[in-house]
Amino acid sequence: MTAMTLNDFDADAFLRDYWQRQPLLIRNPWRQWRNPLDPDDLAGLACEPGIESRLITGTRDALTAEDGPLPEDRFGRLDRAPWTLLVQAVDQHVPAVAALIEPFRFIPDWRIDDVMVSVAGDGGGVGAHFDHYDVFLVQGLGRRRWQVGARCDDDTALLPHDSVRLLADFQPTDEWLLEPGDILYVPPGVAHNGVAVGDNCMTYSIGFRAPSRGELIGGWADDLLAGMTDDDRYADPGLRRQANPGEIAPAAIDRLHALVTEKLGDRAAFARWFGEYASTPKYPEIDWSPETAIGVDDLDAYLAHGVALIRNPASRFSFIAQGAGAVLLFVDGESWLCEGATATLAVDLCADLRLTFDADRVAPGAPRALLLDLINAGSLGFDDRD
Ligand code: SIN
Ligand code: CO
Repeated sequence: MTAMTLNDFDADAFLRDYWQRQPLLIRNPWRQWRNPLDPDDLAGLACEPGIESRLITGTRDALTAEDGPLPEDRFGRLDRAPWTLLVQAVDQHVPAVAALIEPFRFIPDWRIDDVMVSVAGDGGGVGAHFDHYDVFLVQGLGRRRWQVGARCDDDTALLPHDSVRLLADFQPTDEWLLEPGDILYVPPGVAHNGVAVGDNCMTYSIGFRAPSRGELIGGWADDLLAGMTDDDRYADPGLRRQANPGEIAPAAIDRLHALVTEKLGDRAAFARWFGEYASTPKYPEIDWSPETAIGVDDLDAYLAHGVALIRNPASRFSFIAQGAGAVLLFVDGESWLCEGATATLAVDLCADLRLTFDADRVAPGAPRALLLDLINAGSLGFDDRD
């Protein structure tokens, strides 16, 4: 697998002028574009249990959606109606698709969701809609006509449809025909509509995520609640008599409000919770943990042979700097406070998807204990391609 890189692409200018602001068509910026997955292999994934997929047939008012896993003979029974097959998180199953994320890592990892892949027959598409997230739509194979329109929000009128969110009114403001290797960036909320022009139209959606305020408040409050005791409650020693016993006095409100905000406003505790929350894997069933836990001697033997470590593609790694060279490492919903050589190792694990170590680089003690934890949890594995 050759590394994919975006040439002739100015990431800084993109972030300044387009990211979260306006759509951008990027004409084939790859040195040599190679479609990373065969359409038949995508259809195969849609038949596997545990992989989220959807087959959409028909157009606009007469769209039907079938959720996977699909029966293997389903693709032989497609009639002449336009169709499109969508498979979620293909990066977690196909390394060549995961490699498509790397060029987009000028956006922080915690913002990246996954790569959805679609294949459509002539005229196929999911219809005009908007998403809440940024997306890079990479044309893999065949051609697709993309139109973009106005910015939408949760008040925008949708067609009455049970399972597909389609815009009731879509007025394109721009339109392009994408060829293999071309990329369309669409910011959150911007209406878009892609229609396959010819058969074997494959599109790779590098999708991002952005937590809603409600999700953050709910999740953070749940975490705080789990650590609360019943005796941590309102108290008012030194209470003064008030003119009207019916009043909830300003001093009481101050105390009550402080009870809530002291906890909710604890930035350090919030940061730890958020790191754990954001690193929780979406598809934990991709389990790499060894049948029997390995020990430090096994690890030493691998390191002595220069075997590389690779990250489980379903695992999420991030860190938060703590000052004085320490970092909080987050992997798959767990956190480790790392210092000194362990902090350096943690930062490297967050930067690189594949790492080779010599025994000297991973000092005995805490750094090796960290690697062992991550290997035994299935977040890291040995690269047996060596
Ligand atoms: C597609 O790949 O057909 C749809 C992607 C999208 O509109 O988000
Ligand atoms: Co979309």
